[in-house]
Amino acid sequence: MPSLHIIYASTSGNTEHVVDTLKEHLSSAQADLTVTVQRAEEAKADDIEKGDVLLLASSTWNYDAVEGYLNMHMREFLEKRAKDADLAGKPVGLIILGDDRYYYTGRGTERFMQYLMSHNGKSCTMPLIIINDPYGQEEKIREWSEKLMTCFNSQS
Ligand SMILES: Cc1cc2nc3c(=O)[nH]c(=O)nc-3n(C[C@H](O)[C@H](O)[C@H](O)COP(=O)(O)O)c2cc1C
Repeated sequence: MPSLHIIYASTSGNTEHVVDTLKEHLSSAQADLTVTVQRAEEAKADDIEKGDVLLLASSTWNYDAVEGYLNMHMREFLEKRAKDADLAGKPVGLIILGDDRYYYTGRGTERFMQYLMSHNGKSCTMPLIIINDPYGQEEKIREWSEKLMTCFNSQS
């Protein structure tokens, strides 16, 4: 059975809503898919290797008063506990949230891509970027879930 492991960070619940919506859709559309979900603050170093496909999801946040970073828990997970991970070409899907009131709108995308490039991960489909309130953007999430499923075909 194919498996998807999701590691996400969410401060006010928006990323969590996107992950929940995705998960609901996947469970009705892909009954044979095993989906596991974990919060970044609870993830250990080797959790990043779980699943045939890994999904990382986070909002864009600030760090030391500078904007354009990943949520603090995701940043700490990737930069500390998973800093020595070798993803060995693993297919990875990315979800990033942001808000256009901020100068570095959705810049978490770039932060995730930098991590994948330096840890041998393979972005297997275009990232899902949700700008502003995710409530009302469920159709976009549903459409993207179909793109995510192509990641299982692209496994090496
Ligand atoms: C302190 C703070 C800093 C933020 N910085 C950014 C940013 O640099 N770029 C951006 O696009 N959005 C930024 N946002 C907006 C969040 O990414 C957006 O509200 C997101 O939906 C929050 O998702 P979450 O509740 O899952 O963390 C920031 C929000 C806050 C409160």
